Formats: sequence, structure tokens, C-alpha cells
Amino acid sequence: MVVVDVHTHVYPPTYVELLRNRSSVPYIRTFPETGDVARMVILPGEDDPNTPSTARGRPVGSEYWDIAQKIAFMDTHKIDVSVISLANPWLDFLPSNEAGDVAQKINDDVNDQCSKYPGRLYAFGTLPLSAPIDVIVKEIERLSKMKYMRGIIIGTSGLGQGLDDLKLDPIYAALEKHSSLIFLHPHYGLPQSVYGPRANEYGHVLPLAMGFPLETTIAVTRMLLSGVWDRFQNLEVLIAHSGGTLPFLAGRIESCVSHDAHMKKEGKLEGRRPIWDIFKKNIYLDAVIYSEVGLKAAVEASGADRLLFGTDHPFFPPLEEEATKWESVSTNYSAIEAAFPQDDKAAKDVLGGNAVRILRLEQ
Ligand code: URA
Ligand code: ZN
Repeated sequence: MVVVDVHTHVYPPTYVELLRNRSSVPYIRTFPETGDVARMVILPGEDDPNTPSTARGRPVGSEYWDIAQKIAFMDTHKIDVSVISLANPWLDFLPSNEAGDVAQKINDDVNDQCSKYPGRLYAFGTLPLSAPIDVIVKEIERLSKMKYMRGIIIGTSGLGQGLDDLKLDPIYAALEKHSSLIFLHPHYGLPQSVYGPRANEYGHVLPLAMGFPLETTIAVTRMLLSGVWDRFQNLEVLIAHSGGTLPFLAGRIESCVSHDAHMKKEGKLEGRRPIWDIFKKNIYLDAVIYSEVGLKAAVEASGADRLLFGTDHPFFPPLEEEATKWESVSTNYSAIEAAFPQDDKAAKDVLGGNAVRILRLEQ
């Protein structure tokens, strides 16, 4: 049996340097109150001047960029292979004229890191989404020829207007043409106002537990409503965090669409593919949902053959510094065990077999 982690991040040294040279979100810096330990401040709203520096962002150390520590984490948690990806907010914030070169450098660095551990590391590349379309398409083509790359990771902002933007069509076309999977991951959450005036008291809980999955859910629903999968019927998307809340809400989305008089009048209901069809043919879900209940919803929506184990390392480390095993990882392992009590084959597929097949990993 092989265990593959498809949701595991790195911030390569080039990227860390970029953040260290910035003073607005996203940035990395030390604060007088926190001594030598640098903090990484990346989420919208994390930089509120009313938030004490000790609660701003998260402490960041070499576990975020040192690939040897990724391998050590994999060994501790019995993970054979990791498909690493740059974490949020990727290159979304870069000026248009810089993004293309930075993307090339980071993708080359990550591919190189993979080559140091043959058979243990693969990667999702990153795209220069603020650059002109032809630069983005060229990077997709370059990535498709790189030995360890198995797709790309993006957030929900697209070219700035979200993933239902028709200007993304050449990008979707290039990804489909190269059978390059999109790993779709949240970053922006919901407008700060929904978290309320007491949000600061609750650390990162509201943006991470609610903002992230709801952002993903809305982004994918917009893709669906704009007909992305009607135009690109072979475009494949791996959705983070078991699809946000999509498996639970799919029936409601489908019902609202088929009862919408405006969409009907515009002819948008004719020949459209139902969400359930897209779940079974275009969507994969990771198993980063930390409970049997959510995992079962994911299995029901897309199938046990389309579900892939992940950890979200290096995020969600144990709060007790001395712990070596991460509870955030064992919770996901336990959920898989509990979801398939009678079906060892399905559990093994979710843990690694599906990833080997879907991402064409050499074993
Ligand atoms: N927090 C983040 O900013 N990104 C993740 O992937 C997980 C937690
Ligand atoms: Zn993640």
C-alpha cells in the first residue's frame, strides 16, 4: 500500500525572500514583541492594527521552506509520496510585469526540490495570474513538460474577477489540452464584515473554518453557472477541503438552478450538465475534512475513487511544541478508517491508490 499526500504546501526560499521584502499583506517580518521568531501575515484582515502582533499571522520557521523537513514529516506520518504545492496567496499579488519570471523561477525551484527525492515528491506548479494571458499559457505549456509537475494550484480570484470570467477560457483550454489538473485552493475567505466586530477574539477560526470552504464553494458554483464544464468537458479540478461545502449543498444548487426563471429565459438551462455529472467526471476532492461525516458526503458526491488523502502540512501543527505526531493528520487518517469500515480497498485507494492513478505517479 502506498500513502500519497496531495495537499501539502511549501513556500520555496525564493518566495520567502519575496515576502520578507514586503511590508503590506502578504509579508513576513519580526515584531519587537516576538523576538527572533518571524511571523507570516498572509490572510486578508490578519493585519488589523488593533490585533496585537502576537496574534498577527502565524510564526513561520524552516518547516515552511526546508524540503528535508517535509520528508521528515512524511516519514513520521507514514506518507510515501507528497505532491507539494506553493501555498496561498501564490503569485496573485505580483505586478503584471514581474509575475512571469517569478513563476518560472519558483516552478524550476520546486521541480528541482522534487528531483532530490526521486519517487517521493511531485508537485503542482504555480501560475503568474497577474501576467498577460499569453505568458500564463506559456507557463502552462512549460509546466506540462516538467518531470515532476502534475498540474497547477490556483486560488479563486482568477485574473481578478473570479473563475467564471470568460477571459480565463484560453487558460482552461490550455489546461484541458495538456491534461493538467487544477488544484483549487481558497485564500480570500469572505468579506471581513461577516466575521463581526469580535472576530479578533477568535484567532483564525472563522476565516479558516468558514471563510475558506465557503469561498471555495462559491467559486466552484460560479464556474458551474458560467458553463465552464460545458465548454471544457475534460477539464479536471481537485477541490481543496473535500469541496468546501459543495457535497452538502449540491442538491440545493441544482434545485435553485432548475427553478431559476432568468437563467431559463436566457436559454442557460438547455443542455447544461447537472452538478452530479460534473462531480463524477471532472471533480476530485481531497480528504482534508477531519471527520467521517464530511468525508462520507464527499464519497457520496464524487465517489471513493475520486477522493485523495491530504494533510495541509505545514499548516495546523500541534499547539504543544513537543508533540511529534500531528493531530491534524491523525484525524484525517481516522476519518478514512471510519468511513470505510468494511472496505479496505476503498480506504487504500483514498490513501494513495487514487492519487497514483489520477496523477500518473510512477511507483
Ligand atoms: N492557512 C492557510 O493560509 N493556508 C492553508 O492552506 C491552510 C491554513
Ligand atoms: Zn492548504
